[in-house]
Amino acid sequence: MKSTTLLALSVLLVFLNSAQCSKILIVFPMTVPSHYILGNALARGLAEAGHDVTMVSPFEEKKPPKNGKYRDVVLTGFAEARNGNDLTRRTIEHPNVQALLKSNEQFDVVIVQQFINDAHKVFAYHYKAPLIIMSTLGPNAWVNNLVGNPSPPSYVPDVFLSYGTHMNFRQRLVNWLYTVASELNRHLLFYPAQNKIIRDNFPDAPDLSVLNYNVSLVLLNSHESISHAVPHVPNMIDIGGYHVNPPKELPKDLREFMDNATEGVIYFSLGSNIQPSQMSESMRKAILGPLGKLKQKVLWKWDEDTLPGKPDNVKISKWFPQQDILAHPNIKLFITHGGLLSTTETVYHGVPTLAFPLLGDQKMNAARAEMNGYCITLDFAAVTEEKVADALNKLLNDPKYRENVKRRSRLMHDRPVKPMDLAVYWTEFVIRHKGAPHLKVAGVDLPLYKYLLLDVISFVILVMISFILILLFLVRKICCSRKNAADKLKQN
Ligand SMILES: *[C@@H]1O[C@H](CO)[C@@H](O)[C@H](O)[C@H]1NC(C)=O
Ligand SMILES: *[C@@H]1O[C@H](CO)[C@@H](O)[C@H](O)[C@H]1NC(C)=O
Repeated sequence: MKSTTLLALSVLLVFLNSAQCSKILIVFPMTVPSHYILGNALARGLAEAGHDVTMVSPFEEKKPPKNGKYRDVVLTGFAEARNGNDLTRRTIEHPNVQALLKSNEQFDVVIVQQFINDAHKVFAYHYKAPLIIMSTLGPNAWVNNLVGNPSPPSYVPDVFLSYGTHMNFRQRLVNWLYTVASELNRHLLFYPAQNKIIRDNFPDAPDLSVLNYNVSLVLLNSHESISHAVPHVPNMIDIGGYHVNPPKELPKDLREFMDNATEGVIYFSLGSNIQPSQMSESMRKAILGPLGKLKQKVLWKWDEDTLPGKPDNVKISKWFPQQDILAHPNIKLFITHGGLLSTTETVYHGVPTLAFPLLGDQKMNAARAEMNGYCITLDFAAVTEEKVADALNKLLNDPKYRENVKRRSRLMHDRPVKPMDLAVYWTEFVIRHKGAPHLKVAGVDLPLYKYLLLDVISFVILVMISFILILLFLVRKICCSRKNAADKLKQN
């Protein structure tokens, strides 16, 4: 009797558990490793929360998460850089993806990275599943557009302009022109090209002008501790910092190196997309000279076996466990390209930075870090020994940089829920409710003239003009009649 009850209970539990396991499709087509790191962290987090995750990306996970189920659909043969349209088409037409699309498999939710691949929203249409967008950049024009998020060019700078939120006239003008130009480019050039990819592969699918706005939720790799405060409509959720893992023990040689460095350690990495060996000899010397004179030890992520002119306090390696190095108590400074992942990790662990921004959003990230008082930015092209020495001296000896980044770090950690838990919660929320149309602001559905109240403003102006005209007419009428009356009196 007892054992049958137990059996029934455990069957029920298994059933309940499996009922909670949802099938999730994640599409992260970019070949850039830093994007994959973010997609992979989300996939792992969802699988570890007990879900069945299928990940479409150019990379393969060597150590799949233990909990839940995880499967890669690898976009084999994706070369390094490709333009957005090419990458979008190749993803959909890839044999491994075609095999997945043609199978009868169903998904409860589809999560698509938003990065010049708008046509990939068609995956959600194909599976008749709600769509979640993941932005690796934080709020930006491409994402704001999908959910009607207000982003006034008067105080929200474009991601590719390194402006602050308090812009002068020239900056506001440039920001506005940039916003208008990118809006036009998107609607006149980019969306038609993406629409063609949809039509070629899914002849019955609706146009992007429908698919783009059927987004249930946007997950954003951002947080106010690393960026500016900007508006978020209710279906935009900040999960910045979610990819950072709890610190692990360093490998023995590195741990000894860092433990022994009583004067501190400087970590130098230009990220995964740039090969530091490509920098010119004069740049290398301008950086190595001042580094070699420091009492601190230096870890430099260097892509070759030898570094010409390497000083004794510098240790090179092709790979370093960056997050665990930044977590070590002896770390004093991070020399970085200012990528968003590195910026997030440095704030997470409270380490000041010297930034050499090179591409994309790196200038913006470095400019924000500098405005937030924990970073000095140097232009690679104009770098000299004096500038590097001066920046290193300030960053290592003036405590304000460290205090500022520690304050930012406390802000990042002071949240009601851990960001990965938040990502899991909201994904499950969308699955439970089969979408989240109630979170959508009506602004998404309005044509531009209604959104900007151009009709109302025109009407008010028209009424005011009419009123002034009538007033003028009446004044003239009265004056004339008085004048006429006076004339008549004179004549009499
Ligand atoms: C660290 O210091 C210890 C003791 O002084 C020494 O034996 C060891 O070789 C040092 N390790 C490194 C990596 O410098
Ligand atoms: C829009 O999203 C809902 C779920 O959020 C889905 O049921 C519906 O099929 C989607 N419509 C289109 C045209 O993709």
